[in-house]
Amino acid sequence: MVSAYAELEHLMRGRLGRECLYVPSCRFGLYLALRHWCAPGGRVLMSPVNDDVIFFVVLAAGLRPVQAPLNARDGSIDTAAVPESVWQGLSAVLTTNLYGNPDPAPSLRAHCDRLGIPLLEDAAHAVGSESGDRPVGAHGDAAVFSLSKHTGAKTGGFLAFADPALRTELAAARDELLHPARLSAELAYLVRPYAEATVRGLRLVRAARATMRLLGMEERAEIRMPLRPGELRQAVTAAPGLAPFHSWVRVDMHDYRLAPGRGRIRRTTRLLDRLDTTLAAHRAGTATLLDSPWGAPGPGPVQPLFRVPLLVADRDAAIAALGGRRITTGYLYDPPLDDYAAAFTEPSPAPEAARWFARHALPVDPRRAEEVIEVLRASGAEPATPQGPDGG
Ligand SMILES: Cc1ncc(COP(=O)(O)O)c(C=O)c1O
Repeated sequence: MVSAYAELEHLMRGRLGRECLYVPSCRFGLYLALRHWCAPGGRVLMSPVNDDVIFFVVLAAGLRPVQAPLNARDGSIDTAAVPESVWQGLSAVLTTNLYGNPDPAPSLRAHCDRLGIPLLEDAAHAVGSESGDRPVGAHGDAAVFSLSKHTGAKTGGFLAFADPALRTELAAARDELLHPARLSAELAYLVRPYAEATVRGLRLVRAARATMRLLGMEERAEIRMPLRPGELRQAVTAAPGLAPFHSWVRVDMHDYRLAPGRGRIRRTTRLLDRLDTTLAAHRAGTATLLDSPWGAPGPGPVQPLFRVPLLVADRDAAIAALGGRRITTGYLYDPPLDDYAAAFTEPSPAPEAARWFARHALPVDPRRAEEVIEVLRASGAEPATPQGPDGG
């Protein structure tokens, strides 16, 4: 029988040159990867400037997060600042490729090979980005992608892996973890874009948000979700398993482990088919933003970033100025995970650069580059400059 996901997987395999397994979300794919490649009790090097959902997935897999030192300019992992004592205690490395800026995969790969541990890539933000001479997602033993980001499908993702012989085993593990498709969830998914367009058309976005808040339906009043340390401690003792962590892992995407229906797959395939046009728009906007006073251009080619982390002295004032023009800012990851959840992770050996970056990075959708530059100019936003090896 041809799998319902065959066309999607074929499209992604063509892009990456690797075997790809469709999963209902990137977080689900990451859980699957961690369970396959890492024995519970192990320690995983990861970025402290990352979605908290990913932190909870690492905990759900029965693993101990170890926070990496970062480069203050773009939030990538600063491989040279990881002490040998930290390398020696690791059982895996998980890259983030924050906003599409690649982590230094070739040097991380070399360390993983030296230690005999897997390199796993979170490529949620980085479809279309390159590191060394390969796409992000083609360096590790496995990589996970999110179809909610550039593709805009608000569902779905891929687990890509280097060894095609693992396909049957990984597909069986995926199917075991999936919850069966639900008609109500499928219908809600299919009508959502129309409902959102109506709310936008009626200029009711703010009213809709305020109503959600009043009804207690807002999951994140702050950037980071409430940690609930007492309950989290109990969940950690029950790991590995997704069920004890469900209330943390599902945040922003309650369907994260739901098998998709046909309508969902059809829409996602259509969107993935258009990805190159989207990536071209992201690359053009990224070039414009990096060229602005707040941009921090990297040494390599311009990547089709998912968001461009402009560096701004007063980030919150900039967010307010953009909000005044109906430009919302998402994908903020402040404070770093070792400040947010100190009791559940090993801290970074050099945390200052991550703190600096988390405080000053203003993630901008490159497709709105011109509007954002105009607002920042008009509001008098000052650029921030990382200073010294620790980011000043
Ligand atoms: C860096 C990163 N990785 C993974 C994910 C999870 O992706 P998904 O929503 O498809 O599970 C996110 C979600 O925003 C993310 O920002």
